[in-house]
Amino acid sequence: MLNNCHYFAAMYAIVRSFLFLFSPEWVHYFSMNWLKKLCSIGFMHRYLQKRYRPATAEPVRFLNLQFPNRVGLAAGFDKNALYLKELAALGFGHVEVGTATPRPQAGNDKPRLFRLKRDRALINRMGFNNDGVEVIAARLAQFKLSPEAANLIIGGNIGKNKETPNEYAYMDYDKCFRSLHPVVDYFVVNVSSPNTPGLRELQEKESLRQILTHLQEINASMQIKRPLLLKIAPDLTDEQLAEVVDLSTEINLDGLVIANTTLNRSMLTDAGKIKAGDAGAGGLSGAPARQRSTDMIKLVAKQTNGKLPIIGVGGIFTKADAQEKHAAGAALVQVWTGFVYEGPGIVKKILN
Ligand SMILES: Cc1cc2nc3c(=O)[nH]c(=O)nc-3n(C[C@H](O)[C@H](O)[C@H](O)COP(=O)(O)O)c2cc1C
Repeated sequence: MLNNCHYFAAMYAIVRSFLFLFSPEWVHYFSMNWLKKLCSIGFMHRYLQKRYRPATAEPVRFLNLQFPNRVGLAAGFDKNALYLKELAALGFGHVEVGTATPRPQAGNDKPRLFRLKRDRALINRMGFNNDGVEVIAARLAQFKLSPEAANLIIGGNIGKNKETPNEYAYMDYDKCFRSLHPVVDYFVVNVSSPNTPGLRELQEKESLRQILTHLQEINASMQIKRPLLLKIAPDLTDEQLAEVVDLSTEINLDGLVIANTTLNRSMLTDAGKIKAGDAGAGGLSGAPARQRSTDMIKLVAKQTNGKLPIIGVGGIFTKADAQEKHAAGAALVQVWTGFVYEGPGIVKKILN
């Protein structure tokens, strides 16, 4: 006989085959706006919380913050801080909003998000579409006043505008850091998206040093210090990764988020490679990204004797995937593509 969990998974499989008939970006906003409507009805909100919040999750002390559980939503899903109450109802312990840039950006032309169903993957070239840091900060300030805020840690993922030259990038990060400082719990510096031309060059040691030490100086001058983490690309070589880790230790960075989407297509099936070719440029996420992210986490944990805090992200769909990241050295995990394929029960499935 089907238990409750299997029943809801089967239901989602049916809903998903219908949703997958439409464009991924349209489905993203359609589903989230629908969830928002449901959550605006008091008893539905309570029902969803009861249904999806993991009953047994233990809080986790990490970065000197109390996370309600180990599973968060990765950056880029709720870029504009529009769905925080709803995501908390689905059990997420933290949500990383952004990537936010100083000025609003439309991002790249559509279509810019593609499904590779057989490979349980996505390709995106969104290009930091977002409402701009001021608008996002105002929404977060509003959210902070709500009762749900007590149950959700907020990360602020920050980036630079497309037209800002790399030598002035630190000024964009400065602007985003100051604007979000009062309303987020931790920061992630994103220099690893493949969809902003030249951005990944900022992962080079001296550029990174300039941006990160500048933000640390601002942080030190504030009354409340926010943990500062760096999000890295899975396409760094092991040598480049070791350099980033050296720098992170040298400047006392609070941690790493490992990893962003990849440009590598070699782990796709043959059919997947053809689909990826049709989709064109962009970052690959989901199941094919799992192994490299885990391997990088292991390398960092080894190099630092497990001393550098790590959030693991990339190809997490199941409890086993999350445990793999944890065993490699990640204290917390985040999902993005897994949420699309597994549905709203993913947090509960991972934690129970
Ligand atoms: C459509 C889409 C948009 C994303 N946007 C961002 C972003 O704005 N900033 C960022 O740091 N990562 C972004 N990411 C990367 C995810 O946060 C995550 O690192 C990556 O997808 C790997 O996790 P996954 O395999 O669970 O999807 C995005 C991913 C997707 C699929």
